[in-house]
Amino acid sequence: MNNGTYQSGLLGNSIPIVELREIIKQVAPTDVTVLITGESGSGKEVVANEIHKQSKRSDKPFITVNCGAIPEGIIESELFGHVKGSFTGATENRKGYFEAANSGTIFLDEIGELPLQTQVKFLRVIENGEYMKVGGNKTERVDVRIIAATNKNLEQLIQNNSFREDLYYRLRSINIVIPPLRERKGDIKLLFDKFVAEFTGRNTIQFNGITPDAIEFITNYNWPGNVRQLKNFTESLITLNADKIIELDDVMRQLSIPKNELMPATINGYNKQDERQLLFGALFELKKDIMDIKHQLSHIEEVRSAAVPESGFYVSDDKIDNITFDEFEQELLTYYYNKYNGNINRIAEKLKISNRTLYRKFKQYGLKNGKYNL
Ligand SMILES: Nc1ncnc2c1ncn2[C@@H]1O[C@H](COP(=O)(O)OP(=O)(O)O)[C@@H](O)[C@H]1O
Ligand SMILES: [Mg+2]
Repeated sequence: MNNGTYQSGLLGNSIPIVELREIIKQVAPTDVTVLITGESGSGKEVVANEIHKQSKRSDKPFITVNCGAIPEGIIESELFGHVKGSFTGATENRKGYFEAANSGTIFLDEIGELPLQTQVKFLRVIENGEYMKVGGNKTERVDVRIIAATNKNLEQLIQNNSFREDLYYRLRSINIVIPPLRERKGDIKLLFDKFVAEFTGRNTIQFNGITPDAIEFITNYNWPGNVRQLKNFTESLITLNADKIIELDDVMRQLSIPKNELMPATINGYNKQDERQLLFGALFELKKDIMDIKHQLSHIEEVRSAAVPESGFYVSDDKIDNITFDEFEQELLTYYYNKYNGNINRIAEKLKISNRTLYRKFKQYGLKNGKYNL
């Protein structure tokens, strides 16, 4: 217990997170069943934990069950318990998770993995707190708050007949959706700093700082593994670079983003997201080179006030601080498009990306492919 200032485990100042905290505050004191959806690593368990911590059950058990990790054959016995002798190997009575969570909260993670026949029993517990142990003949009662989570599209599972519609509607009455990290970029630096502080606090590892371009890259990366990936990345990054100021190259290496080796031949093995990251990596390198060159030249007073050069790719100082990735990409591609008369082959070679990717980008930015058909 502290003096009333509640320290949230859910960090972030972005609008979605601030709203999320508000929703948690509203639902936590009730016993209503909550469904949390969001990509893997986006913080579903953190949210479930917060709901429990802010509920009147906070000093009672919080039991997490990963439905996807329990073999189908034993899941009912794990959830509801079994009576001695009910099946081969049931040598003792066994308490299930629901019983263990009694008077507290049960968090059923990866609810989409629950086998269909178990879903029926689960629905019954949600509706009236009743269930039967495996091999048992009497109805048991529990008082638990149920929170479920999934990264699956349950509607799709319903289409495939692997998730019950009635259960879905029952669960969905309160649906908390956690946006992926890439949609709340404003939180990335804050989370990074927090993970650095936590990690260096727990270990005798020194953090000597990080360059602005490196942190900018981290902020703009798309983090397919969300906060979990950012956390693991941060820990590895500072462990492997404990003796120095962390630079962009260290970040790229840690994320396995090839620096100057964007070979068209290898790009086929990547999905669209990877391609985007690769291209982003290349553009970022280019931007960095430009900034480096400008920096080197900055002692020449004229350079600072110079107008846009007649030729060459140039993004003004003002702009480079505020430009989005897409705008930057568009600028760059338009420049090359004009320079090489829309010749896809030459531009792709120049940028070391596949013709296919470039072609798609051109379409995206309304640059006509002209006579250079692929
Ligand atoms: N908003 C957040 N603030 C602080 N840590 C977070 C946040 N979101 C996620 N994490 C951390 O990221 C990791 C993954 O979160 P978790 O809740 O397990 O994700 P999910 O259940 O959606 O896969 C955990 O270590 C968790 O503590
Ligand atoms: Mg999880």
